[in-house]
Amino acid sequence: MNTKLKLHIRTFGCQMNFYDSDVALGALENAGFEIIKETAHPYEDSDVFILNTCSVREHAETRVYGHLYELRDFKAEKKPDLIVGLMGCMAEEHKEKLFKKFPHLDFLCGTRNIKELPEIVETVRKTRQQTARIKKEGLGIEYSELTKYGNGINAWLPIMTGCNKVCTYCIVPTTRGPEVSMPAREVYKEASRLAEQGYKQITLLGQNVNSYGKDLPGNPSFPELLRMLDEIEGLELISFTTSHPEDATEELFLAMRDSKKVSRRFHLPLQSGSDAVLKRMKRLHRYAEFKAKVDRFRELVPDISLTTDIIVGFCGETEEDFEATKRAIKEIEFDGAYIFQYSPRPATPAYKIKDDVPKEVKNRRNVELLAIQDAITKKHYEKLIGSSAEVLVDHISRKDEHQMIGQTRHERHVVFGGTSQLSGTTQTIQIKSVRNKTLLGELVSAAQ
Ligand code: SAH
Ligand code: SF4
Ligand code: F3S
Repeated sequence: MNTKLKLHIRTFGCQMNFYDSDVALGALENAGFEIIKETAHPYEDSDVFILNTCSVREHAETRVYGHLYELRDFKAEKKPDLIVGLMGCMAEEHKEKLFKKFPHLDFLCGTRNIKELPEIVETVRKTRQQTARIKKEGLGIEYSELTKYGNGINAWLPIMTGCNKVCTYCIVPTTRGPEVSMPAREVYKEASRLAEQGYKQITLLGQNVNSYGKDLPGNPSFPELLRMLDEIEGLELISFTTSHPEDATEELFLAMRDSKKVSRRFHLPLQSGSDAVLKRMKRLHRYAEFKAKVDRFRELVPDISLTTDIIVGFCGETEEDFEATKRAIKEIEFDGAYIFQYSPRPATPAYKIKDDVPKEVKNRRNVELLAIQDAITKKHYEKLIGSSAEVLVDHISRKDEHQMIGQTRHERHVVFGGTSQLSGTTQTIQIKSVRNKTLLGELVSAAQ
């Protein structure tokens, strides 16, 4: 390439998508593109504009459609040569249908074709034909030295993709396919390489991260993998997301208890407190089983920070069902919860069931549940005032250059007075107060 083409990726969705964008940017930069990271005018400033998309709720797709309509007008009126691409879950879900709807869309790239992006863009440039590359099988992960993560302290480390569960509301098994794991020796090698490069935190990613390895006979299980990674020198914190209750086993709780570096936060989606709703969702647990797991886990690791996902307004959810969810949230007292309003997704089994909970009711239930959860979260956080925590220091606060932001082993954010020289070190911080799920503290002394 003679002059470097400027390229920007706009990412929606989960951590896996953010990881995929990092891989894409690494491959494209290596192929000679100039990467435009942050810009207020992404269309004007780029020659190639890529949307990395999510399909999990309608709202995520609506935002992408908004961009595509804007881009249609922008190309027509101002920049006909702009190359527009779409990658991620919407490419997997809608495929070439998107070309018909959006004739100005130049290419589609599947979640297992990311490394082919430089070649796809080159093909579009030469032929000016709409080009789709969507592979149906295999593992979308291939570790690469070209991938750069944030400020060199935290790195994503995907270890499996896809999902073999059949929750009736969820599009993920359609967009990400069945479960495929990366062999443990490869994961170990990559984690060691990241540690050698100076990364202090790794976040293991997977749509169902704790069912890791089940597809590979003889491969270590997820708890065994955690034990292996815990030994890697240089790493300070090993996080992972997202776990499924079915695979939240005693063996996993014990591995977490025994570890030195594995995060003390566990994200375990409950979805609903009503057994009737859980059954219609085809979640494999019932409330009592979920609660028993939580109790056992708390017995083994008393300070574990549990967080969850809840869907309100799933098809047929009655006031009684909702009351059961409220009771569950109050009984378990999670540290935090993401609450979603049910969004019917075409191509999911629940799409055939009538979405009979009116929008206002979903809204009301969402607001009510959020208020209950916020009060619990606030109570939990306020209990920490006066205590000290080991904090892995990450970056300077955007609001105040004299303040640093870091994370505790429970992945709670802490802000304290300090300088950027502390980035990547672990410090003891005394917690003084709480502001919106952020702990405010003071530096006590250097832990190492
Ligand atoms: N693999 C993870 C999470 C997948 S998506 C798991 O199974 O736990 C993240 C969250 O989005 C889910 O936990 C669920 O709460 C929510 N979600 C998924 N599909 C949804 C839909 N159709 N409407 C609303 N929320 C949804
Ligand atoms: Fe969205 Fe799910 Fe795909 Fe992630 S895996 S981008 S949450 S649809
Ligand atoms: Fe799978 Fe359901 Fe999660 S289908 S990805 S277990 S929400």
